Amino acid sequence: MKVIVVKNAQEAGKVGAEIILNLVKENSKTVLGLATGSTPIPLYKEIISRTNSEKIDWSNVTTFNLDEYKGLTEKDDQSYVYFMRKQLFNHINIEKENTHLPSGLINSNHEAVKYDEKIKNHGGIDLQLLGLGINGHVGFNEPGTPFNSLTSIVNLTESTIEANARFFEKKSDVPTQAISMGLQSIMNAKKILLVATGKNKAEAVHYLINGPISEEWPCTVLLNHKDVTVIVDEEANSYKK
Ligand code: F6R
Repeated sequence: MKVIVVKNAQEAGKVGAEIILNLVKENSKTVLGLATGSTPIPLYKEIISRTNSEKIDWSNVTTFNLDEYKGLTEKDDQSYVYFMRKQLFNHINIEKENTHLPSGLINSNHEAVKYDEKIKNHGGIDLQLLGLGINGHVGFNEPGTPFNSLTSIVNLTESTIEANARFFEKKSDVPTQAISMGLQSIMNAKKILLVATGKNKAEAVHYLINGPISEEWPCTVLLNHKDVTVIVDEEANSYKK
C-alpha cells in the first residue's frame, strides 16, 4: 500500500486527479470505478478543469460507480446518478451510455450481481476510486460485511445514515438501504485509489494502513490488494490512540 500524505482536501483532489488523468491519457479506453460523497468533489473539479485546459478525451472511457441508494432514480436530486452527472459527467465529453451505476430500483440480489457480470464483460475495472466511511466502510460495505461479497442490497448503519443526513433535508429522508458493489467486487479492480480527508476519518485511516485485517473495519480488506494508493490529508493522518 502506497500512502501519500498531502496538506488538505484540495491537494488530495489534485494528486488524485493526476493519477486518474494519467491513466486516461495512457489508455483512452480506461474503465474507471467511481465514488460519490464529499471527498471526491475537489478531485472531480480538478478533472473537469484539466480536461478543459488539456483537451483530454473521455469519449471512449467507461465508468462504473460503487453504489446507489435503494429506491432513488435519476429524477431524485439525492440519487448518486444525479450527483455524478452534476459533479462530473455533464462537464466532460463522456458518453452517457458508458457511465454505469447500480440501479436504485433493483429488488433482489440476483439482479444486483448482474452488475459484477457487466463489469467483467467490460474487461474489469482498471482503477477503482474509493472514499472512506467514518466506520471504515468502502462502498456501502458496512462493518461485518464478508470480504467475498459481490454487488448486493445492503442495509446502512445508523452511523452512515447520520453521516449522510447532511445531504438530505432531514435525517428521516436518508434511505436505509443501498445497492453497493461488494468488497470482492472492489478487490477485483486492477488498481485502487482511496482518498480520505478530514479529522473524522483519522481512526478509519489508522486501521486501513495498520490493520489488523478484520471485517470490523471493512477497509482493511485492501491490505490484501497488491496495488493500492491511499491519499490522505494531514487531518485524516492524525490519529492518536
Ligand atoms: C460513495 C461511497 C461511500 C463514501 C464514504 C465517504 O460512493 O461509496 O463509501 O465514499 O461514505 O463519504 P464522504 O466522502 O462523503 O465522506
